[in-house]
Amino acid sequence: MSLDDASQKPHDRLSAYLAGDMDQVNNLIRVRMASEHAPRIPEVTAHLVEAGGKRLRPMLTLAAARLCGYDGPFHVHLAATVEFIHTATLLHDDVVDESAQRRGRPTANLLWDNKSSVLVGDYLFSRSFQLMVETGSLRVLDILANASATIAEGEVLQLTAAQDLATSEAVYLQVVRGKTAALFSAATEVGGVIAGAPEAQVKALHTYGDTLGIAFQIVDDLLDYGASTAVIGKNVGDDFRERKLTLPVIRAVAKADAAERAFWVRTIEKGDQREGDLAEAMRLLDRHGTLASTRADALAWAEKAKAALTVLPAHDLRNMLADLADYVVARLK
Ligand code: IPE
Ligand code: IPE
Ligand code: MG
Ligand code: MG
Repeated sequence: MSLDDASQKPHDRLSAYLAGDMDQVNNLIRVRMASEHAPRIPEVTAHLVEAGGKRLRPMLTLAAARLCGYDGPFHVHLAATVEFIHTATLLHDDVVDESAQRRGRPTANLLWDNKSSVLVGDYLFSRSFQLMVETGSLRVLDILANASATIAEGEVLQLTAAQDLATSEAVYLQVVRGKTAALFSAATEVGGVIAGAPEAQVKALHTYGDTLGIAFQIVDDLLDYGASTAVIGKNVGDDFRERKLTLPVIRAVAKADAAERAFWVRTIEKGDQREGDLAEAMRLLDRHGTLASTRADALAWAEKAKAALTVLPAHDLRNMLADLADYVVARLK
C-alpha cells in the first residue's frame, strides 16, 4: 500500500460511515447556495462547490452528533452551516492571498474578480446564519457566531504579522487557532450540543476540534512548501510569495546566520523576490530541519486531539475520529 493510500484511508472510512447524512448535507448545500435574483451567485458557488473539497468540517459535525447519539434532523443543517462558513472564508482568503488556484481549479477571484468573491462570500456567510437559525438553538448560534468572529480576527492578525520577521511562535499559534481551529472546534462542539451531550463530552469535542484544527493548519503550511501543486490543487509557494511567517519559516529565521538573515529580510520583509528564491527558501528550511520539527509539532497536536477523545462514548466513530487525527498529519493534500 502506498503512503497515499494509507493516508487517505481513515478519511474514506469516515465518509463511508456518514455517506447517508453527507448526501443530505450536499443536497442542502446545493439548494441553499442558489439565488434567484443574482445569477453571478450560483455561477461562483457552483464553481467552488462542484470542485469538491474534502468536506472535513461537515463530517466532524455529523460524526460528533452521531457519536453522542443524535437522531434528529438538525445535524445536517449544522454541517451545511459549517461548510458554508468554510467556503465563504475560502472566497475571501483567496482574494486576500491573491491565490490563483483552489481545489484544482482557477480561483473565483481569477475567473471572475475580487468584487464577486467578496460579495458571494458575504452571501454564503449570510446563508449560513439562516441555516443555523433553523435549528432553534441559541447555544449553537452563540458557538458559530463566535467562531465566525474568531476566524476573521485570525485572518486580520495574520495580515499584520505578515512580512514581520519578529513574529513569534506564540503569535503564529494565535493566528492558526483563530483562522482555522476555531471552525474545527465549533464544528465538533455544535454536534455535541445539538445531541444534548453531557458538558464534559461537549468540552472534549471542543478540545478535539481545536487541537485537530491546529494540526491541520500546521500541515497545510508544510504542504505549501513541500507538496506538489497538482496534488494539493493549490499553488505551492503561495505563503512565501505572500510573505507569511509560518512555523517552518519562523524557525529557520531563528537559526539564520548573517547571509541567511539577509535573504529573509530581502524576500519576506522587503518583498524583493526573484527567480529561484522559493527554491532557496526551501533549501534553508531543509538545512535547519524546520520542516521536520514543524511536522513533529503537528504530530503532538494530533496526539492531544486523540487524548481528548477518551472522554467520549466508545463507538466506531470515536475510533474513526482518532484515525482522522493521524490522517490530518499524514495527508498529502
Ligand atoms: C483549506 O481547508 C483552508 C485551510 C484551513 C487550510 P481544506 O484543505 O479543508 O479545504 P477543502 O475544503 O478541502 O478544499
Ligand atoms: C486558511 O489559511 C485560513 C482560512 C481560509 C480562514 P491559508 O491561506 O493557509 O489557506 P489556503 O492555503 O489558502 O487554503
Ligand atoms: Mg490562503
Ligand atoms: Mg495555506
